[in-house]
Amino acid sequence: MNGFDFHLPTKILFGRGRVHDIGSHVPGAARRVLVVTDRGVATRTPALDAVRRGLEGHDVRVFDGVEENPCLATVEAGIKEARDFGAQLVVGLGGGSPMDAAKGVALAAVHDGALRGLLAGDQPSRRALPVVAVPTTSGTGSEVTPYAVFTDPQAGNKIGYGHPSIFPAVAIVDPDLSAGMPVTVALNTGLDVLAHALEAYLSTIASPLSDTLALEASATVLAHLAPAIRKEPESIDRMAYAAMLAGVAITHGSTILPHIMGYPLTMFHGVPHGRASAVLLAPVLDFLRRAGRVPERVRTIDSLFAPHGGLPAFLNGLGVPTRLSDYGVREDELLAFARKTIVKGDVRITPAEVTVEDLAGIYRAAL
Ligand SMILES: [Fe+2]
Repeated sequence: MNGFDFHLPTKILFGRGRVHDIGSHVPGAARRVLVVTDRGVATRTPALDAVRRGLEGHDVRVFDGVEENPCLATVEAGIKEARDFGAQLVVGLGGGSPMDAAKGVALAAVHDGALRGLLAGDQPSRRALPVVAVPTTSGTGSEVTPYAVFTDPQAGNKIGYGHPSIFPAVAIVDPDLSAGMPVTVALNTGLDVLAHALEAYLSTIASPLSDTLALEASATVLAHLAPAIRKEPESIDRMAYAAMLAGVAITHGSTILPHIMGYPLTMFHGVPHGRASAVLLAPVLDFLRRAGRVPERVRTIDSLFAPHGGLPAFLNGLGVPTRLSDYGVREDELLAFARKTIVKGDVRITPAEVTVEDLAGIYRAAL
């Protein structure tokens, strides 16, 4: 058995109603708290009120300008807000977008340089402000990862960033907050959990411990995604748990090809992030099967989906089309998508040698 490291500096509070405990878990002596969220969460859900009540006695300011797939300009606006306010703590409240934006704000607010420099590889000279992550969806797992993804509309790119400094100090996983997700959000974020779990399991940096989390998360999605979408309370709880488990799994195993290949589908065709990754899982598995790579892991995944008629059938059963053409993707775009993907670092932890032609071939097979 190979050795491994496992480090998770995030305190996890799990359970319904736990959001009310936020005030007792504020790291350090932080008084001024910037809540980073989106307008929908702020105005149409009880989550922000719950956080405000939990933070009674603190000076709370809300930045609710985060959009889906947050662009750099939005994060920069949040950074300005944090500096003007003198924020000592950042709460990321919402789905992956607000939590990722909160991490970017927490990191760059304490640096004189611009966010872009840090994303381009400048080493942070100071620790980020502490982050408390409060998910209102069951998908991204961002509450327990040191990762954030931002969109650069000018470059037509998504930029993934990872640094231990942006691990949330506290993750409050309260299924009461995810129970109100609209059906499409529950589905698309649940698909993100599935992609995280399977990709972490296939990655070359997986460990026995991340495998355990990834397989448990996969099995949970298979059993509980459909009933969670139907609003069965126990399954809503289980999906919140699976999202967190899969988040820890990608912290230690990372995502691989389906995620980075999915970015152009989101960027150019508006395919929701989790769905974009999930529809690429089967084509990537087929590629690994043809290449004869990690055959025992591919078999394990096949056996998980066998009772459902296979992975594409499982997705189709949830009402998710699995052909890229169903999302408006065209043959003449595939090479450009492959070129955008090949430069991403996560190509290197996919368990196969991969060329631009391979990537274009995987897209083509999914068309
Ligand atoms: Fe994801």
